[in-house]
Amino acid sequence: MSGAFNSELEPLFEPLQLNGTQLANRFVMPGMQRGWCRDGRPEPRLADYYRERAIGGVGLIITEACAVDHESATQGPYYGRLNRATMEGWRDCIKAAHQGGAHMLVQLWHEGAIRRSGGDGPYAHFPTLSPSGLIQPGNPNGRPATTAELSDIRDAFVRSAMLAQEAGADGVEVHGAHGYLLDQFLWAGTNLREDGYGGSDIAARVRFPAEIVAAIREAAGPDFIISFRMSQWKEIDFSARVADTLDDLRIMVEALTCAGVDLFHVSTRRFFQPEWPGSDLGLAAWVKSMTDAAVCAVGSVGLSTDIMESLEAGKETSSELESSLAELARRFRRGDFDLIAVGRSNISDPHWVAKVRAGRFDEVRRFNREDVLRPGQDNSANVAPSFLTARKAEAERDALESQKK
Ligand SMILES: Cc1cc2nc3c(=O)[nH]c(=O)nc-3n(C[C@H](O)[C@H](O)[C@H](O)COP(=O)(O)O)c2cc1C
Repeated sequence: MSGAFNSELEPLFEPLQLNGTQLANRFVMPGMQRGWCRDGRPEPRLADYYRERAIGGVGLIITEACAVDHESATQGPYYGRLNRATMEGWRDCIKAAHQGGAHMLVQLWHEGAIRRSGGDGPYAHFPTLSPSGLIQPGNPNGRPATTAELSDIRDAFVRSAMLAQEAGADGVEVHGAHGYLLDQFLWAGTNLREDGYGGSDIAARVRFPAEIVAAIREAAGPDFIISFRMSQWKEIDFSARVADTLDDLRIMVEALTCAGVDLFHVSTRRFFQPEWPGSDLGLAAWVKSMTDAAVCAVGSVGLSTDIMESLEAGKETSSELESSLAELARRFRRGDFDLIAVGRSNISDPHWVAKVRAGRFDEVRRFNREDVLRPGQDNSANVAPSFLTARKAEAERDALESQKK
């Protein structure tokens, strides 16, 4: 690697002041479910895994999606959940990240209509709740939440955020992306409510996510970091959009900024993909132009396939490290975003950041789908983040159960 290339990357290794916290560099490990929780509590290996990535140089680690303390949040038996009973396990993870030299946010999550209905998981008796009982247009599951239930769910986000704070987290990330509950509010296709929380106006659709952010801010105080993860794409629909126009995006971003967001984690499958015709700016760069909050981009850094191609379609990933890093450096230096999240590469190589910094590109271990899907070993049906994969496994389980009866 040439010294010139090394200096192009150097700005990515400068610290960033995020609210009251100083991050050592611009690299983030985003939330990634591993299926290593039991009854919502992380197994000790999850803390070890985070510690190793922190030692490996990543400045900020976001925990895997953690269900909030509400019965309707998830039925996944191997997913995280943050309540009083599981808090100590999450404290161990946060401690481990800090020991390794990174900061940590806990990702707060609710599946909404994507949650399994029926079944035999935790709180299976509880109804599946969402804005309008829709996974996507024409695909119903569960029922719309009443206003009273919405306020219970908002309180559950706050309760889990306060437990994260008590457990030592630097902040939380509110999961508003990928087709889960808060994204179901943001997306017109899944939010047909007529009570001021839904419909064709983005200002109404952002109201519930913004109320959650504001309630966490009020309870947790000014110094606690609040990140909001957003996306246009959904696991069930890659072409779906919460904001069709720049005006819609601006209304949404401003409402969330006003509510107290410090960081927008803008999830795209490819960080370099232009969002609107006529400009090469990605979604993160557009968000950055609309807020004073910090912005984190993500998607296929160093890899030739995006997350869904590699997990759903099983496409082989080749490394495109040097060309990808050059594009990353170009966009970062232009001011498109403040932080960059690197997902799969941090799974496959815990020292990815340190190796990139040192220019040891040939030592980087490339992501392989087997790193997250290990049939016969872990709970393979539960480690992939994908709703489709999880639903397929559930359908197979249900079919088997009904054959037995
Ligand atoms: C195994 C796995 C689990 C994931 N789980 C989550 C999750 O819990 N929460 C979330 O917001 N995104 C999740 N994602 C998406 C990642 O955070 C990230 O956005 C995605 O992998 C794209 O980054 P990459 O191209 O660098 O891998 C997951 C991704 C993977 C590979």
